[in-house]
Amino acid sequence: MTPIIRPRRLRTIPAMRRMVAETRVHPSQLVWPMFVGEDAGAISSMPGVHRHDLASVVVAAHEAVDAGLGGVMLFGVPDDAHKDEQGTHGWLPEGMGQRAVAAVRDAVGDDLVVMVDTCLDEFTSHGHCGVLDERGRVDNDATLELYARMAVAQAGAGAHVVSPSGMMDGQVAAIREALDADGHADVAILAYAAKYASAFYGPFREAVASTLQGDRRTYQQDPGNRREGSREARLDLVEGADMVMVKPASHYLDVLADVAAISEVPVAAYQVSGEYAMIEAAAERGWINRRAAVEESVTSIVRAGADIVLTYWAKEMAGWLK
Ligand code: PBG
Repeated sequence: MTPIIRPRRLRTIPAMRRMVAETRVHPSQLVWPMFVGEDAGAISSMPGVHRHDLASVVVAAHEAVDAGLGGVMLFGVPDDAHKDEQGTHGWLPEGMGQRAVAAVRDAVGDDLVVMVDTCLDEFTSHGHCGVLDERGRVDNDATLELYARMAVAQAGAGAHVVSPSGMMDGQVAAIREALDADGHADVAILAYAAKYASAFYGPFREAVASTLQGDRRTYQQDPGNRREGSREARLDLVEGADMVMVKPASHYLDVLADVAAISEVPVAAYQVSGEYAMIEAAAERGWINRRAAVEESVTSIVRAGADIVLTYWAKEMAGWLK
């Protein structure tokens, strides 16, 4: 009789399992998203995550350095009075995003990769990621011009990486051209290449006090479309993206694996607010082992092909990896 082939031999003791692990998560590949407004505050749907003010975001950035994280992703959250049809505070030097970038960069220098969200939704009165035409539709090409201004302002404030997340066609090329023309050839673009119109952004919209009515389905992708994720990534690569991202992460691991298979640049995945909230809520009820679930979810995202993971658990996860 042929002997039983025994894969279980490699699972016998923790040291063996550690040695043969196919996927290892390292703090340097984790990026911590942070919300920064005039005032600090709690976000009820994201227990453990807070909206920072300029003082507390600097403290958190130092913690990120100490934890050995790869970077931070900053979101400016303006006061309501600073929202308008065009999202002007998205690119004014005194806009919340630019102030957050400057404060963090000033504090951490080059010890962290300072990234910032390049999108107008936090700054527009209607909450869309771009400007509207006379019929109320998001105007792609008019929006590109504003993204270009925003990226230049963010680079001027000290961002190492700008991250267009609005899913406008041509956004990477428009931003690259504007950055280069303004002397920011070294500033990299992390493109939200495949971004789906997801229900899992719900808590984020609370975090940034979104004013959005309706949805983003004319620019974010349909959740059922897999091939289209690769198409979007390929276009961003052609336009000069330095890194590409898939978002959300956990429900889109097939898309992530596809993009990782074709990308010649680093691939990021964003474990979004709803992914965070689900695990936190279940853990709070004692229905799930919180630490194990967090570790499993982040490991699975890396296993599927992410070189970089944006996660609200970045600092805590890094602590567990020590
Ligand atoms: C849009 C944007 C979104 C997120 C970050 N930037 C999604 C949206 O509101 O459509 C989601 C992040 C999260 O849910 O954690 N600029």
